[in-house]
Amino acid sequence: MNYQTISFEVKEKLAWVTINRPRKLNALNAEVINELQDVFHQIKNNESIGAVILTGSENKAFAAGADIEELTALNTQTGKEKMLKGQNLFNLIENLGKPVLAAINGFALGGGCELALACTIRLAAETAKMGQPEVNLGIIPGYGGTQRLSRLVGKGRALELILTGAIIDAREAYRIGLVNQVYPAEQLLTETEKLARQIISKAPLAVKAALEAVNQGINLPLNEGLHLEANLFALLCNTRDMKEGLAAFLGKRQPSFQGK
Ligand code: COA
Repeated sequence: MNYQTISFEVKEKLAWVTINRPRKLNALNAEVINELQDVFHQIKNNESIGAVILTGSENKAFAAGADIEELTALNTQTGKEKMLKGQNLFNLIENLGKPVLAAINGFALGGGCELALACTIRLAAETAKMGQPEVNLGIIPGYGGTQRLSRLVGKGRALELILTGAIIDAREAYRIGLVNQVYPAEQLLTETEKLARQIISKAPLAVKAALEAVNQGINLPLNEGLHLEANLFALLCNTRDMKEGLAAFLGKRQPSFQGK
């Protein structure tokens, strides 16, 4: 697929996906959603990619939300179809089997904030602004915001953001746990890459299992989550990477993981 609204490159096991509609503040129109679906599908199936950085082009926006012009045509049926399609993409990102780091370089509003919520880890520039302003438009978040935001920052804070439509700065986002770290804008991509490469250096199957344990487990009763954790641990006991990790520790050397 020849992308018109995103860019994609892979450098040494790290995929960079950039939403590239700067004149519309990287708003998520149908084309962006389709292209992200295609690229994340490719990334999921490409074993040579260990992590992804998702960001927005230029320095004003990560993504300023769903494309508001497209929303004007929606009715009950198409509105539901559009939300389910977006949710399908965001579920793919959340369950990719490899970490997706959101480098939030500016506005992450509405669908842009929801996109960041579907990512594994969120790092923000000091200049970033986040929020769920849908109530200003007579709608609610439909790409998972009501569900993922409340699971991440708690019900009270999620409802405060969703009901007021408030736009908060990066420091406040950090204070409430919406982002993991905040950096000066010019350091954001370097710091995000550093974190991604740290994760890439770990055993890939262990990273995948940890993601599955946390992502699936958070939606299960504790006893079922613990059971899932033990099962995933057990599967790792049969991997070459476990043998390599233990041998490297005991041999006082760096491990060399194969993802096997
Ligand atoms: N959908 C479609 N277009 C959008 C957009 C969106 N979500 N957000 C911004 N744009 C467009 C603007 O319409 C404008 O286009 P134009 O130059 O053709 O008129 C362009 O991007 C620049 O935005 P502008 O509003 O002029 O920038 P600003 O710096 O004055 O304000 C924001 C920035 C983010 C505060 C403002 O654009 C905004 O409130 N956007 C909508 C956010 C939102 O409600 N998102 C949730 C959608 S469900």
